[in-house]
Amino acid sequence: VGNISINSKGHLEICGCDAVDLAREFGTPLYVMDESHIRQNCRLYRETLNSLHPDSGVIYAGKAFLTMNMCRIVEQEGLYLDVVSGGELYVAIKAGFPAEKIYFHGNNKSYEELKMAIDYNVGHIVVDNFHEMEMLNDLTKKLRHRVNILLRISPGIEAHTHDYIKTGQLDSKFGFGLENGQAMMAVDRALGIKGVRLVGFHCHIGSQIFETEPFELAAELMMKFVKSVKSRFGHGIRQLDFGGGFGVKYTEEDKPLHPREYLMTLVESVKRWARELNVAVPRILVEPGRAIVGPAGITLYTIGAIKDIPGVRKYVSVDGGISDNIRPALYGARYSAVLANKAGMPVEETVSIAGKCCESGDMLIWDIKLPRVSTGDILAVFCTGAYHYSMASNYNMIPRPAVVFVRDGIARLVVKRETYKDLLRNEIFEPGKKAISS
Ligand code: LLP
Repeated sequence: VGNISINSKGHLEICGCDAVDLAREFGTPLYVMDESHIRQNCRLYRETLNSLHPDSGVIYAGKAFLTMNMCRIVEQEGLYLDVVSGGELYVAIKAGFPAEKIYFHGNNKSYEELKMAIDYNVGHIVVDNFHEMEMLNDLTKKLRHRVNILLRISPGIEAHTHDYIKTGQLDSKFGFGLENGQAMMAVDRALGIKGVRLVGFHCHIGSQIFETEPFELAAELMMKFVKSVKSRFGHGIRQLDFGGGFGVKYTEEDKPLHPREYLMTLVESVKRWARELNVAVPRILVEPGRAIVGPAGITLYTIGAIKDIPGVRKYVSVDGGISDNIRPALYGARYSAVLANKAGMPVEETVSIAGKCCESGDMLIWDIKLPRVSTGDILAVFCTGAYHYSMASNYNMIPRPAVVFVRDGIARLVVKRETYKDLLRNEIFEPGKKAISS
């Protein structure tokens, strides 16, 4: 995994930083993000896609992990940014991310969010539904503005890991259905709105995908749609955005492909269909989130209570859980981990890692082999860079962890650990008063 090694003390080292020292200095649970790994991933995607098709762009999906420092990295590495809410847009703008390089997603953007996007001059809005289209009609008239839009299309493909289905008539809250004619109606409407410039189509077929076929199919369906739009309205589509979904390795069972394989399939399929259908090859965009940040993150925990139930199971509890990683409980996600302070030692026992939240479902890892575990050991869980910090909560009034970026042996704090005081910052409470006055 990335820049990970074992140092002379037998400790886990992340990008030149001793994980045990990081835990001591910043406390646990701690999200450690390897900045050079994030940058390598950004470059890998951008350069690979660009070498296959120069008229292309990589849009980082901010939902996976977004902080102002992350926005800066994304900008420096030449990627675009996908935001899905007024909040994500706000973070990007505050970080000075160029608005014209932002793609604004979301299946229920509010009037205020759309206005905010237009006020900031966001480069592209990915329109999901007719309600949004009418709001844009209204807003662009009022603000005398023109916005570039992509239409989100539901191509009727659902891909997850090693499984994908062509659902045809799609039952999805996202986008305009391709096969029920909604997508064509949306094009018709968009072309009738003065304030919008219909420049592209978007689709996102799933997440954590390990095969190329669903992307091939997506390319075919989108290109055929481009062709029918051209034939019907004489309108050429210049951008096709194929969303994200490129798989990463959480455990040995996960076998992601090299980015080149996904991207080559996409580009080649688009080109093949362009020839076949006699339409221009569009600009090709992808929106990876997980693949950029997932493998670059490690969460450090301190081990507390150890409960050995003889003949049943040994529960090893950590000082975090659902509040910093909801993925095992929500998706049955699996992880690999090591003891950072015993990284050089051979495995000796099988234990299960429990979180500290009050739910039996708060289990981070079932049946993992580790060296003999003691209270005070530091557990390092791998591949926690995507959808961890961004999905963290204050469940059980647990303050959210700090985030540290590491690079060339230097650690810098980019998000402070929340305090108990932070937990109450929005509460309205007058001490001494009765809770309910009668
Ligand atoms: N573009 C769109 C429109 C999306 O909806 C998503 C993810 C992405 C790009 C980025 O997909 P990625 O490359 O990260 O797979 N919370 C879940 C994942 C939800 C993904 C939602 N959409 C998890 O923790 O696995």
